[in-house]
Amino acid sequence: MAKILMVASEAAPFVKTGGLADVVGALAPALAASGEEVAVVLPKYRAIRLDRAERVFHEMPIWLGASLYNVAIDELQSEGVRFYFVDCPALYDRAGIYNEKNLDYPDNPVRFAVLCRAALGIVRHLFRPRILHAHDWPAALVAPYARHLLAGDPTFLGIKLLLTIHNMGYQGIFPRAALAELGFDDSVLSPGGMEFFGQINFLKAGIVWSDAINTVSPTYAREIQTPEFGFGLDGLLRDRAAALSGILNGAHYAEWNPEHDPQLSHRYSADDLTGKLSSKLALLAEFGLSADTGNRPLLGIVSRMADQKGFDLIAAIESELMAENVALVVLGSGDPRYETMFRELARSYPDRAGVRIGYDEALAHRIEAGADIFLMPSRYEPCGLNQMYSLRYGTPPVVRATGGLNDTIEDSTGFKFAEYSGRALLRAIREALNEYRSPDRWQARMRRGMRKNFPWKVAASQYAALYGRLAEGSADLHP
Ligand code: ADP
Ligand code: GLC
Repeated sequence: MAKILMVASEAAPFVKTGGLADVVGALAPALAASGEEVAVVLPKYRAIRLDRAERVFHEMPIWLGASLYNVAIDELQSEGVRFYFVDCPALYDRAGIYNEKNLDYPDNPVRFAVLCRAALGIVRHLFRPRILHAHDWPAALVAPYARHLLAGDPTFLGIKLLLTIHNMGYQGIFPRAALAELGFDDSVLSPGGMEFFGQINFLKAGIVWSDAINTVSPTYAREIQTPEFGFGLDGLLRDRAAALSGILNGAHYAEWNPEHDPQLSHRYSADDLTGKLSSKLALLAEFGLSADTGNRPLLGIVSRMADQKGFDLIAAIESELMAENVALVVLGSGDPRYETMFRELARSYPDRAGVRIGYDEALAHRIEAGADIFLMPSRYEPCGLNQMYSLRYGTPPVVRATGGLNDTIEDSTGFKFAEYSGRALLRAIREALNEYRSPDRWQARMRRGMRKNFPWKVAASQYAALYGRLAEGSADLHP
């Protein structure tokens, strides 16, 4: 058993912009349920409402270079986990989490550096763990702070550092000039340190100074060691291959289960699928699509709208896809290019294509339930959660065979394509549509997917094993 302190910029149910929040919010309680002592450090953003929290530290001075940030720490216990919220209104009391109107906050380097330094303050004063587990670039600076800037401080001796990478596409790259504001001097600027093509790179620093690194699927752990997926850090990751592993995320079935999903007006299970058709009709009505669309296969998408997600492939095949007489519902927001593309698609096919630009958790559930086929043609996908949900909801997914999509979807449960091209995507969709026309075969496929299981308990036990090997100082850090 180990004592673990996680550091992250988001965790459900407190704050969520993507899968990272789902993972931190589910992994921590799953570890606690298996007997580990777990705490999580998060920024106290404006959107976070804490009724039952207790102020456990009133004034923690954090010096970064010449600037002083005075933070306070609030604590809330939930599902067996202690959540520590770093209160620093000047940095976190804002309308957005990372950005507003698609513009990143210019002081993001300092905002997340303070999160990391506050986590080290928590280690000193409130919760001394055996493992300090950082997630993604916003938490990655705990490693250079503990191992470089504060090296020799006995507080951090014996604590092992793990960095989980959820997405290589977001590294926290900033101008060199930010370095002084973070309290580092030029000694971290060597190519073996934080320097990255003349700039500074938070994720790189985390990879360099952590004891172990993992990503969220075994396939992605291999892919990021190649130039195509490494976003410039593949060489460094190859150097650190002995300390790098992949642990597949779980799915939070307490929330994502069509048998007792409170967001659905019609529930269903593998044994009784009638509620699935009712869910489809309800979803068509919700999007204002024609009811006779009920006979057409309904494709669903729920996603951040980013290059990562492969929407340029959908743009490339749009007219051929719609010529197949399918219906389509889309929920997402992000890059205005893709928002516009989907809006225009809905305008061109008003009776059978519907789009909602925005973030709507309840609607995400209703799309998983109401669609016949789920689309995830990602260019890359570290793990991906929606394809696991769609299996459980009897909505076979069409996915690109990359990262976690490759590790969770089989040819018997979904439709995979390898080449990143519109042609390959269209071929996979046509294969799905073809099978959809044979109800027996289709229902057998739905049921196979619905019986697949990716419980958090399994992922948590793999993390526990990795923590154990790290704590022992084992040279082999692979699961
Ligand atoms: P990523 O983290 O890359 O965005 P994941 O598949 O890991 O992708 O996780 C995405 C999570 O965010 C899922 O829980 C999904 O349901 C949710 N999600 C994404 N976009 C939306 C949206 N527009 N509305 C509601 N939920 C969304
Ligand atoms: C990232 C990835 C996604 C993964 C999620 C949680 O946002 O894009 O694939 O599922 O993190 O690990």
